[in-house]
Amino acid sequence: MSGSARRHLLAIEGMQPPEILSLLDLAENYALLNRSGKTQRDLLRGRTLINLFFEDSTRTRTSFELAGKRLGADVINMAVATSSVNKGETLLDTAATLNAMHCDLLVVRHGQSGAPSLLARKVDAAVINAGDGTHEHPTQALLDALTIRRRKGRIAGLTVAICGDIAHSRVARSNIHLLGALGARVRVIGPPTLIPAEIGRLGVEVFHDMAAGLAGADAVMALRLQTERMVRGLVPSAREYFRFWGLDADKLAAARPDALVMHPGPMNRGVEIDSAIADDPARSVIKEQVEMGVAVRMAVLDTLAWSARRHAA
Ligand code: NCD
Repeated sequence: MSGSARRHLLAIEGMQPPEILSLLDLAENYALLNRSGKTQRDLLRGRTLINLFFEDSTRTRTSFELAGKRLGADVINMAVATSSVNKGETLLDTAATLNAMHCDLLVVRHGQSGAPSLLARKVDAAVINAGDGTHEHPTQALLDALTIRRRKGRIAGLTVAICGDIAHSRVARSNIHLLGALGARVRVIGPPTLIPAEIGRLGVEVFHDMAAGLAGADAVMALRLQTERMVRGLVPSAREYFRFWGLDADKLAAARPDALVMHPGPMNRGVEIDSAIADDPARSVIKEQVEMGVAVRMAVLDTLAWSARRHAA
């Protein structure tokens, strides 16, 4: 990474294209390394990575763990229950504990937007945001961009449609910033109750009709209905939601014939996406997104570990 090497990865917002591109290029190399079955265990040997997840996760936590191990780091998973603790106190107590353990890389997922930034101010480790509330999920956007770039050869000039529960999606926010920075046209599609009014300020086009929003799209991302973040029922029923907003072959017909079908997972089949589309190898790159997740996280760990060394020097 060029010039003023960053210390943490907390958000895509504010990242400049050269920095994003250098992470994608490095991740591309790691994708090849992973496919060859080789590892680079010397790179982070002696470094400690702690996965600190205050929210559920399958893909993200596992892929950070794999990424750390493939680079030779010692990886520790801490699962923290949210319900029984005062979050503010716990975070600061946890920060003190982690500092005492001399952890080098700290991967944090938290239900409150801004929690990783707070931790970053309190710990010596490089902090990586693995999803904070409805704010950002930077490594997800990087892996989505890498997947698109590998399939389409570029990001600039593409039209990417993000569908569904935009309001509660940190994935949508990080993608809007990243794809916009790299010159894609970004559309968001969903019911008015699930699209925040101010989203247009981020430079996206807003659609409340799937056929109109998907017309001519090069890539389509379906998002999970994040009912756990909804204060009240913002959608009538899963069945009705699927009828209007669920991505199926009929609705996808409006997009380009070679449009990529994407989903960050976990999927609710029959709610925001139809199984036939999700599992169609000719259209769906959902498995490749997971594969690229490991490569992107290796690139992020690699980059931040080196910059941490420079900061310490
Ligand atoms: C997403 C998340 O946690 O923000 N999942 C993921 O990391 N792949 C999306 C979601 O939970 O729906």
